[in-house]
Amino acid sequence: MRIIPVASGKGGVGKSLVAANLAVALAQAGQRVVLADLDLGASNLHLVLGFHSPAKGIGTFLNNTKSDFSQVIAKTDIRGLRFIPGDQEMPGMANLKSFQRNALVRRLLALNVDTDILILDLGAGTHQSILDFFLLSGQGIVVSSPAVTATLNAYVFLKNTVFRLMYTIFKKGTGAYNYLEKARKDNSMGNQHLYIPQMLKEIEKIDPESHKKFADAAAHFHPRLIMNMIEDPKNADVAMKIRRSCEEYLDIRVEHLGIMYRDGIQDTALSSRLPVVLYKPQSVISQAIYRIADKILESEEETFTLTDEDIDDSFQEASLEAEIDFENKMEYVEELLHTGALTQGDLLETVKSQQLEITKLKKENNFLKHKLTQAGSQGFKV
Ligand SMILES: Nc1ncnc2c1ncn2[C@@H]1O[C@H](COP(=O)(O)OP(=O)(O)OP(=O)(O)O)[C@@H](O)[C@H]1O
Ligand SMILES: [Mg+2]
Repeated sequence: MRIIPVASGKGGVGKSLVAANLAVALAQAGQRVVLADLDLGASNLHLVLGFHSPAKGIGTFLNNTKSDFSQVIAKTDIRGLRFIPGDQEMPGMANLKSFQRNALVRRLLALNVDTDILILDLGAGTHQSILDFFLLSGQGIVVSSPAVTATLNAYVFLKNTVFRLMYTIFKKGTGAYNYLEKARKDNSMGNQHLYIPQMLKEIEKIDPESHKKFADAAAHFHPRLIMNMIEDPKNADVAMKIRRSCEEYLDIRVEHLGIMYRDGIQDTALSSRLPVVLYKPQSVISQAIYRIADKILESEEETFTLTDEDIDDSFQEASLEAEIDFENKMEYVEELLHTGALTQGDLLETVKSQQLEITKLKKENNFLKHKLTQAGSQGFKV
């Protein structure tokens, strides 16, 4: 069973949209898929999936971890897709007790017997439970939008996962663990910035055994990026910043899984209670999701490692896709104009409101860039 956690750091960037639509696309490709809403406390994946209001969700199980887990796994109308709803009554991940988290992880892993792909929709933020669910796979997906706040959060999320990975691998009392603890304390007191490649060099000297264990695990850790809500092919370049910062400061290599444009069709799909790939499979956004699903199916499982060339290719491909989709979007607008479904007036209004939005975002970005530069940006390239 392949596990695909979907995370982001920042909220509202499209995790649930990606999780639900990928689940549908992969099930349509003949995979046995389970989609789980792990955004406890704020779960809304059932809405994106167009699932009727769930009677039982993960909260039902967490309230009694001895209960039968199969009662919270629901069938859907889509062949091959099962759904585990979340629970809005349940306090969020931050309040999950470790026995509850462990029981949940055990049940999720046991799905292996009759599942090909398990997709986990995670909440926003970098709480430890979220990091642990993300680390159930070496190939988790990080969704970002091109906004500087979102890319910064994506980077910070990955930085936290690398530290979490270190803490799970370095056992208490070892030289590596003690070094890590000291570095963390110095950092929180502002005495030192955490620069992982440098830290790993030190750890290798102090405690080569722990270092090797970490290096082995990190070799299979290749998070995958999805750039969502882009407006322009140029936005695809923002992904390079995340890639470079991850390589330089975290010593991890991120693969680009693809781009998705911001598309008004998503709103209509949502109000029609349908995932967009079912609502309009031919739309540019649905095609982008199918393309990502194909890449997931093509890539090898579990123990795969990526070469620098693979990573370069993935970024080049994403830039190309951004150009192609942009043209397709334009063609679609032209078609609408021809058929009369869209008037010149509508188009003008849309362009005007987008320009206003862009001006607002530019101001926000400049303000944030200024603040980040001032703060020395903690190892993040602005
Ligand atoms: N490419 C897109 N085009 C248009 N709308 C989008 C796109 N991606 C996401 N949205 C919309 O943005 C909103 C946030 O998306 P979504 O709920 O998937 O994000 P999320 O990361 O799961 O948020 P949260 O952190 O709250 O769980 C939704 O209304 C969704 O329909
Ligand atoms: Mg969500």
